[in-house]
Amino acid sequence: MKYTANAKRYESMIYRRCGTSGLQLPAVSLGLWHNFGGKAAYDNGLEMLKTAFDLGITHFDVANNYGPPPGAAETLMGMALKKTFKPYRDELIISTKAGYHMWDGPYGDGGSRKYLLSSLDQSLKRTGLDYVDIFYHHRPDENTPIEESMRALNQAVVSGKALYVGISNYRPKEAKIAIDILRDLGTPCVIHQPRYSMLDRWVEDGLLELLEAEGVGAITFSPLAKGILTDRYLNGIPKDSRAAGASPFLSVSDITDDVVGKVKRLNEMAKGRGQSMAEMAIAWNLRQKAVTSVLIGASRPAQISDAVAALAGLEFSAEELKLIEQILGE
Ligand SMILES: NC(=O)c1ccc[n+]([C@@H]2O[C@H](COP(=O)([O-])OP(=O)(O)OC[C@H]3O[C@@H](n4cnc5c(N)ncnc54)[C@H](OP(=O)(O)O)[C@@H]3O)[C@@H](O)[C@H]2O)c1
Repeated sequence: MKYTANAKRYESMIYRRCGTSGLQLPAVSLGLWHNFGGKAAYDNGLEMLKTAFDLGITHFDVANNYGPPPGAAETLMGMALKKTFKPYRDELIISTKAGYHMWDGPYGDGGSRKYLLSSLDQSLKRTGLDYVDIFYHHRPDENTPIEESMRALNQAVVSGKALYVGISNYRPKEAKIAIDILRDLGTPCVIHQPRYSMLDRWVEDGLLELLEAEGVGAITFSPLAKGILTDRYLNGIPKDSRAAGASPFLSVSDITDDVVGKVKRLNEMAKGRGQSMAEMAIAWNLRQKAVTSVLIGASRPAQISDAVAALAGLEFSAEELKLIEQILGE
């Protein structure tokens, strides 16, 4: 059946400016890292994309290696764009990245010009797009001069294959070098994609401050700590959860009594605010001025609606913030 997007999709979503650029992003964006791996995931993946877009989520984030197998999430995105979202292409921000291992040999990993630009060509083929909206270097590569990687990003824009560029997982010192080089090249770095949640706060040690000073937006990934900062693991490990599945990035051993104890207390606090645990974790992430958007993952449409509901309760009192610090510090 033909999809017609919700006519009210722009009424309740909050859009925030990405640094000092002209680009606005929804306060909640959807990533396709997990649960969008190929044909088997297609029906549910498509439902999640539709739910997201109907709620005003205009930004979908992929990378060359998302799947499994690597490339599969881009292929799924391409099918969805072709069959469902074609009329809405100009209302969507699609990002992709290169930087982690993608193919064998010396040109399928890292930060060389050779890797980044050939990977972008492959991403365009898989997604069926003429251009991506944002192209990222996925992680710094100590064996490639930052200048070479940034020149490749600049080339992506100059050649019309990307509209904007960004960096991901760069620490403050490397980020500053990359931002300066891109500015000199005339292709500003509009966005940085770091991990950030109540359980992983490295960005508070200089990165967010740098991004604000440089006018670069932050889109923070894994704001729910891959599902830990939700009600998912409060009473054991559900069979259909990420921790119980095949993901190498979250396993049963990560769900410790200590962390579950903290999340239980945070969950009680969230209830007191009239929010779910996931909603409070997302709102807490968005309290940072430098954060343009939080980049969530999901395994079902209801989780996306829950994430967007967070936007109705973004305020924290000083006492609430103090209590969160106390719980996290115990
Ligand atoms: N740049 C990078 O290096 C990098 C690295 C990692 C991720 N990312 C990006 O960030 C995106 C998000 O990462 P992530 O998936 O780890 O984010 P996340 O939002 O922290 O975790 C998502 C998982 O949390 C659970 N969940 C989500 N909403 C829930 C809710 N309302 N109630 C209960 N459980 C809920 C689901 O787990 P279940 O599957 O158990 O239901 C879902 O798969 C990725 O898709 C990718 O685009 C970027």
